[in-house]
Amino acid sequence: MAKKLFIKTYGCQMNVYDSARMADVLAPLGYRLTDRPEAADMVILNTCHIREKASEKLFSELGRLRPVKAERGGQILAVAGCVAQAEGEEIFRRAPHVDLVFGPQTYHRLPEMVARATRAEGAVLDTDFPVESKFDHLPEAASAPGVSAFLSIQEGCDKFCTFCVVPYTRGAEFSRPVAAIVEEARHLVANGAREITLLGQNVNAYRGPGPKGEAAGLADLIRALAAIEGLLRIRYTTSHPRDMDADLLRLHGEEAKLMPFLHLPVQSGSDSVLERMNRGHGADAYRELVATLRRHRPDIALSSDFIVGFPGETDEDFEATLALVEEMGFAQAFSFKYSPRPGTPAALMPDAVPEAVKAERLHRLQTLLGQSQRAWNAKMLGRTLPVLFEQAGRHRNQLIGRSPYWQAVHVEAPEAAIGDLGQIRILAQHRNSLAGEWIGPIGTSPSATSERACA
Ligand code: SAH
Ligand code: SF4
Ligand code: F3S
Repeated sequence: MAKKLFIKTYGCQMNVYDSARMADVLAPLGYRLTDRPEAADMVILNTCHIREKASEKLFSELGRLRPVKAERGGQILAVAGCVAQAEGEEIFRRAPHVDLVFGPQTYHRLPEMVARATRAEGAVLDTDFPVESKFDHLPEAASAPGVSAFLSIQEGCDKFCTFCVVPYTRGAEFSRPVAAIVEEARHLVANGAREITLLGQNVNAYRGPGPKGEAAGLADLIRALAAIEGLLRIRYTTSHPRDMDADLLRLHGEEAKLMPFLHLPVQSGSDSVLERMNRGHGADAYRELVATLRRHRPDIALSSDFIVGFPGETDEDFEATLALVEEMGFAQAFSFKYSPRPGTPAALMPDAVPEAVKAERLHRLQTLLGQSQRAWNAKMLGRTLPVLFEQAGRHRNQLIGRSPYWQAVHVEAPEAAIGDLGQIRILAQHRNSLAGEWIGPIGTSPSATSERACA
């Protein structure tokens, strides 16, 4: 009899990808997804440890799930992801009703762990960094990927920014072989994907074995993927400024399937803060990088992450961040209050910034970033953009798609257009999306998939 699996995903896109792969690995055991934890035979919380708030969500959710588990006899409750890796045993101590705790590198071992939990052998903990790669042992994706799919190509981080837990929760940098990625991409496209976002904690540090055993960089990999017929758009995230090499920068001006959008976190505009963050570059290096990128691809949409209130951040440091934002013209960005994480060097740094100052700085930064985003979106008004339709909207006959610049676009169009590109004239901008009208279809030839007009 089919068993039911409920997975709740927190954190980054890598976790979204991982959750789908956990469902794939459990499918042969008879597990089918449900969106109701009360109906589930197994519940997995795929967790994020990046900031304190993200971590604490796990324990409140576990509290809510305790009566659900008691009600549904035999339910297996599992904690996966980055909190599992970081907290390990501590989770059983704080939440004794949890059966399984396992880290991000062990998902291929899930069937064995589930078997042990089913035999009620007691709590099962697996936070190894196994020598074998989970990617070699995970089955092909069983579920339909959707029009826009994620594909993990690289995992882990060797950068050790002083504020960040990722190098501890995900382990050392590891890149999958080109051939395995191309095969997975073909499989995704054969099942309906038209856009693939390549994922990695440091995706542009990708350095995997190529077809002849040579080391291939991200640009080489993207070239190999661009040859797949039926794949219309390629994106990648998240990049580190230090790993944007000349080949990749150039490719943004050459490869029409590579979309003109780049998420390139800078964190701060102050050199002294960047130094203490161990980012390995200053603000001017970031400016130069963006200038080079825009020489190759003048219309590229730029996105970033910011941290305010890093230990020792002065008013002048913060002003330098605001100045950088004014200058760069970000299309969008994420910004966070610094959150001290156990085990990271920054957590021990002096001169913590008071909470009220952090809050005030975050508010100012977000106001400025909001203006920048609106100014960027306003440039789209009246233009005709190629939009890839991903899903039905909330209203009748409405579809939601994305522009090359990653903006969500609402359009009245026939449902049959899902998975296709349409020429859309942009008529209005809303808080987080654009609205447009259907002008006509676009062929799926690569040259038609991207617009080169300068924004
Ligand atoms: N690998 C990516 C980012 C991964 S985490 C990179 O190098 O940029 C996503 C974002 O969370 C980071 O860019 C940073 O802005 C934020 N972040 C990470 N640790 C944080 C912390 N301790 N406090 C606040 N924000 C944090
Ligand atoms: Fe964290 Fe820095 Fe690695 Fe990004 S590059 S994952 S911020 S340590
Ligand atoms: Fe969070 Fe882990 Fe991703 S800490 S941001 S889920 S890599």
